Amino acid sequence: MTTEAIPQLEGHSDAALEKAFGALIEEVRTSAAKLENAGAHEAFRLEWLGRRQGRLKAISDAWLKSAPAEAKKSIGQRFNQLKEQIDLALASESSVDANALLAERLDITLPGTHCGVGIEHPLIRTMNEMVGVFQALGYSVGVGPEVETDYYNFESLNFPPNHPARDTQDTLVVAHQDKKPLRDRLLMRTHTSPVQIRTMEQQPPPLRIVIPGKVHRNDESDATHSPIFHQIEGLCVDTNITFSDLKGTLDHAMKAFFGSSVKTRFFPSFFPFTEPSADVQISCIFCGGKGCRKCKHSGWIELLGCGMVDPNVFGFVQQKQPGYDPKKISGFAFGMGVERIAMMKYGVSDIGQFYSGDVRFLGQFA
Ligand code: PHE
Repeated sequence: MTTEAIPQLEGHSDAALEKAFGALIEEVRTSAAKLENAGAHEAFRLEWLGRRQGRLKAISDAWLKSAPAEAKKSIGQRFNQLKEQIDLALASESSVDANALLAERLDITLPGTHCGVGIEHPLIRTMNEMVGVFQALGYSVGVGPEVETDYYNFESLNFPPNHPARDTQDTLVVAHQDKKPLRDRLLMRTHTSPVQIRTMEQQPPPLRIVIPGKVHRNDESDATHSPIFHQIEGLCVDTNITFSDLKGTLDHAMKAFFGSSVKTRFFPSFFPFTEPSADVQISCIFCGGKGCRKCKHSGWIELLGCGMVDPNVFGFVQQKQPGYDPKKISGFAFGMGVERIAMMKYGVSDIGQFYSGDVRFLGQFA
């Protein structure tokens, strides 16, 4: 709306002003009576009150500002009356909105929209519970990078370059690193064990730490394997740590986690970074050890790997942290798969369920 839309005042006499403003007030009243919905209401508001193109602004510019001093007061009064009429029309319009709402007949006795509360993912829950068991024993929690160097993932853990033990943990490697020395080349970590080395390099003994985290392997996925999965690593180093400390700690942890009737047993095994090494089995939590399909009728289920820290590993760490002298200290380490434990605890038979994001599956853990 521009000033051209505003008629010329015929003069500044009372009669002339009365005529000009009277016509406008009349116009406001008639259009106000026709305002039926929010759209019309907004258009009306813009037409009259629009800050740059509104008619009130134009009237103020054309009639008020240019008026002789003696006419200003009476023009101002009439201007205000006109504005009041507009405000009145707009105020009554909001009751049109209220009426529209009432017409919708809001029934507040109807049940509300249900909004489900999220839960911890079963893998995270398993991880937190197991970490909690070790925290209660005085362990602190550590983390390390998922993209790891060859040195931390393999070499410092006593997997020499080209050693066949590396074949058991094939993984993805970062491309175009041929110019780097082997030890600096990057790969997706295959286990949480590199964090053992990283932690020892940072902290002198004694040390007790649990390390939950994600790991990657070139494994075909099937009902019990996934190329990306989670582990919980543990490391305890002090003077006079023995294999019986390892056995006692893991036996306690399995009982705390699965229930006090669970038994553990240790079988000789091999890991390059522990010596001696063992696989730990627990008595089948489904049949109590009698034998069932879940434990392949053996009564036992294999759950984790462990062993006494190999002196060679301390040797690597000593390059940065001389306190790890294998003549003075000893330690044990263990590593377990979180998926495997969660599958056991909750009776899940397909690992893929953990990653599918299916609320019907996840909802069962609420
Ligand atoms: N890092 C080993 C694995 O992923 C498990 C392990 C950890 C074994 C610590 C012994 C000590 O298979």
